[in-house]
Amino acid sequence: MAIRTIIEPFRIKSVEPIRRTSREERQKLIEAAGYNLFLVASEAILIDLLTDSGTSAMSTEQWAAMMRGDESYAGSPSFTRFRESVQAIFGFRHVIPTHQGRAAERILFNVMCKKGDIVPNNTHFDTTRANCEFVGATALDIPILEAKQPSHLHPFKGNMDVARLAEVIAREGAKKIPLVMLTITNNSGGGQPVSMANIREVKQVCRKHGIPLYIDACRFAENAYFIKLREEGYADKTPRNIAREMFAHADGCTMSAKKDGLANIGGFLCTNEDTLAQQEKDLLILTEGFPTYGGLAGRDLEAIAVGLNEALEEEYLKYRIASTAFLGNHIASEGVPIVQPPGGHAIYLDARAFLPHIPTAQFPGVALAVELYLEGGIRSVEIGSLMFGEHAQMDLVRLAIPRRVYTQSHIEYVVEVILDVWRRREKIPGYELVHQAPFLRHFTAKLKPLAR
Ligand code: F0G
Repeated sequence: MAIRTIIEPFRIKSVEPIRRTSREERQKLIEAAGYNLFLVASEAILIDLLTDSGTSAMSTEQWAAMMRGDESYAGSPSFTRFRESVQAIFGFRHVIPTHQGRAAERILFNVMCKKGDIVPNNTHFDTTRANCEFVGATALDIPILEAKQPSHLHPFKGNMDVARLAEVIAREGAKKIPLVMLTITNNSGGGQPVSMANIREVKQVCRKHGIPLYIDACRFAENAYFIKLREEGYADKTPRNIAREMFAHADGCTMSAKKDGLANIGGFLCTNEDTLAQQEKDLLILTEGFPTYGGLAGRDLEAIAVGLNEALEEEYLKYRIASTAFLGNHIASEGVPIVQPPGGHAIYLDARAFLPHIPTAQFPGVALAVELYLEGGIRSVEIGSLMFGEHAQMDLVRLAIPRRVYTQSHIEYVVEVILDVWRRREKIPGYELVHQAPFLRHFTAKLKPLAR
């Protein structure tokens, strides 16, 4: 019989100890941090699921490549290797390195958008939205309707509502829409993939109106693997070929290499348009650096060049997606409400359904995140009423899984902690704010628990 156990497709050469704390210690630490996990030192965290960004473990090949890093200011061979690696997968004419994803976004919107413009996206990530709004444009989210119902099962819940896109263009006129974006996978919508059919349909609408399509490519390899698993006609294709097909429909992309670049820092902006590329490079020199390094060290470019290819390895993706799904499916089978189906890089707990006795004004997401820390030293992030105020459509707690960092037993531990909290959920208190900043308050807010 064929062996079915999916294993981590690597062995561990260098280890980083993690420290256990006692419940009493955690109680003191979280109180001192104003019940805000951003304000807890990482040494006091056992399993850190705050983000999958910049937290990947690098491979021996990446470390070896870093030693080859050429730190020349201009014309470094490290840039040539980086560009070749990006072009072999993404296929765009121009590759502009940046220090991370949001720098690519800032340059893109500065060059392409002006006040009064509209940028439709399945769902803008916060930095994408902020950079778009900073130039006076409107960031419009038009995911399919299913995306807004946490328990609804859909294989490609990250898809854009193509009919709404066509409506928006008809209503506003193509002149007001300098570009359309697709975020793959849709992070803010639960790490859900976008299908090839959807990419194709979005492109058709864009082409009809002469609007360029850009892809926010952060988790492109995970998206490609979901297409392989779930979309008809792709089962026998490699993730690499699927990725190439996805990008062939686009006119450019923004990328944070801190995700599927398997690097700790870095990003890039791509385009097929010569004039745009020139304007983008001019702006790059102003704030990021010369176009052959763009705010990165030569060694970072090398790490990304190798990481992009490793992220597309099928054995890796199989383990990655299985590990995230294991976490989601195990807790869901015990009744824990999550955004269904499990995403690629994270599991999102539905805090409103988990803690129905806590009104949204008392931050159910914060309450749940604090409890996961108290119970097991796990750090997650609230994506709800604290982050978005009264505009929050859901109160979610994201458990983002760093790449190649935690093993199966770490994930089993996380399952156990969540189930323990689930069993005593009725005793969990709500929270009130005692301090908040005028914007992006979730990073620095201080709270306190209410009596229960
Ligand atoms: N786009 C998406 C979809 C993202 O998830 C992120 C970052 C960015 C753009 C910006 O990239 O951080 O390199 O500037 N997401 C991280 C997260 C921060 O935790 O989800 P960056």
